Amino acid sequence: MKTITVANQKGGVAKTTTAVSLAHGLAYRGKEVLLVDVDPQGQCASALGLEQEPGIFNLLVSGKPVRDVVRTTRRQGLYLIPATSARPPRRRCSRWNGRAKSASC
Ligand SMILES: Nc1ncnc2c1ncn2[C@@H]1O[C@H](COP(=O)(O)OP(=O)(O)OP(=O)(O)O)[C@@H](O)[C@H]1O
Ligand SMILES: [Mg+2]
Repeated sequence: MKTITVANQKGGVAKTTTAVSLAHGLAYRGKEVLLVDVDPQGQCASALGLEQEPGIFNLLVSGKPVRDVVRTTRRQGLYLIPATSARPPRRRCSRWNGRAKSASC
């Protein structure tokens, strides 16, 4: 088994395009490929026309079995674990002595 990582600190330099195209090309040539997306933008799923959820958070943090998060694709031999979308954290509204700590509470 080979692991290939596509990573770069800079945005918009074709990381997603490279990862999806490479995975697709290897599957097209008969390899069994598992594309694992850990970028919360989750664009590997949209590039392959798939839903993002349930994503990798469910595997790494919630402990769901891998079969629940691995998706088949329209390309034979290509599988995807999508990234979990980055939702803004819920605003915590803590109260202290009956007064809201945050003006938005
Ligand atoms: N070889 C290429 N020629 C021209 N445009 C390209 C090429 N590869 C990718 N692009 C375009 O460049 C843009 C950025 O590509 P991509 O989304 O893959 O980058 P990224 O590094 O994953 O970005 P992000 O940091 O936002 O995740 C997209 O609009 C994509 O269509
Ligand atoms: Mg990207």
